[in-house]
Amino acid sequence: MLFVCKLDDLEPGEAIKVDSVKPPIAVIRGESGEVYAIDDTCSHAEASFCDGFVEGDTVECPLHMSVFCLKTGEPENPPATKGVGTHIVSIRDGDIYIEVQR
Ligand code: FES
Repeated sequence: MLFVCKLDDLEPGEAIKVDSVKPPIAVIRGESGEVYAIDDTCSHAEASFCDGFVEGDTVECPLHMSVFCLKTGEPENPPATKGVGTHIVSIRDGDIYIEVQR
């Protein structure tokens, strides 16, 4: 389990990049308040989801605008066609932790 940050420090719609693991992971809080962890690099090209735009519980890639489901890591529209990895998130005593699934 890897500590990320306090839940209170990640507002809905915000993202934080965990680059102590390679490749890096994006921990993103959807607008619902749910926290997700997905591989940070888009499956289409070199773009960071932490620079993307959160809408609902999805994130739009900042480079070519494919929208990815934060829960499944799957793209909802082209040009991306492949999903990205997802990781387990736990909230304990107000702290966010991730468990890397690789
Ligand atoms: Fe993400 Fe192209 S780099 S859609």
